[in-house]
Amino acid sequence: MANPSADLPELPGLEVPADLLAPTRARPERRRAESEPVAPAAGSEPGAPRSAEAVSTRLYNKFPVPAPLPEHGPARVIAMCNQKGGVGKTTTSINLAASLAGYGRRVLCVDFDPQGALSAGLGISTHNATTIYDLLIGREQDPRAAIQPTDFEGLDVIPANIDLSAAEVHLVTEVAREQILASILRRVADEYDVIIVDCQPSLGLLTVNALTASHGVMIPLECEYFALRGVALLIETIDKVRSRLNPALELDGILPTMFDGRTLHAREVLDRVYEVFGDKVFDTVIGRTVKFPDASIAGVPIVEFAPTHPAAQAYRQLARELVARGAAA
Ligand SMILES: Nc1ncnc2c1ncn2[C@@H]1O[C@H](COP(=O)(O)OP(=O)(O)OP(=O)(O)O)[C@@H](O)[C@H]1O
Ligand SMILES: [Mg+2]
Repeated sequence: MANPSADLPELPGLEVPADLLAPTRARPERRRAESEPVAPAAGSEPGAPRSAEAVSTRLYNKFPVPAPLPEHGPARVIAMCNQKGGVGKTTTSINLAASLAGYGRRVLCVDFDPQGALSAGLGISTHNATTIYDLLIGREQDPRAAIQPTDFEGLDVIPANIDLSAAEVHLVTEVAREQILASILRRVADEYDVIIVDCQPSLGLLTVNALTASHGVMIPLECEYFALRGVALLIETIDKVRSRLNPALELDGILPTMFDGRTLHAREVLDRVYEVFGDKVFDTVIGRTVKFPDASIAGVPIVEFAPTHPAAQAYRQLARELVARGAAA
């Protein structure tokens, strides 16, 4: 039998710029509380084993529970981005947001996909609602008119619906068309600690707006055969946005999703991801489980639907890891 790893994409041309791989900078303007435990960058110590084999034995308690924040804002904006469909962008946005809110953070989720899956997944009705589309085209000026609370304390949403599919056409003739989302979010940034933008699976103008509005980008990556294909293009897009529109944009990390440690194939893909991206891969790995579709149908995050399930524990750990890495307050 042919060696399956021999067929793994070689990522021709994937030169990840060194400064994109630099450690995420903690925001200078926010002071850490004296009592806040400083988390070890688990797994990133020199010589620490980083392999798919090690993942299955990892426990979900590597990062400390973040200390309460003495004050809120200004928000760090994170784009959840991968132009490949169905890799876990929306699931990650919802569960990371709910987990951060569970740790006392004030979180705003922006549904930036006309499919409206994030809005639905948080039980938000978009019928007759003011949506991100109304803000983008200037029909509604105050972002607060579109913000809806969810059932989770500290977690708000700007919803989207199918109207958003017309936005790219509308925006194309606008002045500073790539900066429209940034100017919208700037107006509410002081009221939140974290803003998560759930992107649609494309690298079009909406995604460029999300990257321009963000401090960091997270890339959920499905642990399957063709996952790495397309990442080179995504990295190239991130790099273009950095050099032309948003020099402060950082790659916060690659999140392996839908990992099934029982298959050789998934382990090989994960090892290749570690090889290419090194410490930029989150320690937290999201396993594959049918609980996610179940939670989506119920319209609640898995951290609420099945809080003790390993996948819920994994997302709570991701929230703690993000704080420990300085990518969230
Ligand atoms: N870890 C997982 N294990 C199993 N199923 C999952 C997992 N994460 C997400 N799913 C399911 O996979 C599907 C796609 O996930 P999701 O909608 O989060 O991906 P996406 O990247 O946002 O997709 P799109 O590109 O269409 O916006 C959903 O049905 C979701 O419930
Ligand atoms: Mg989605």
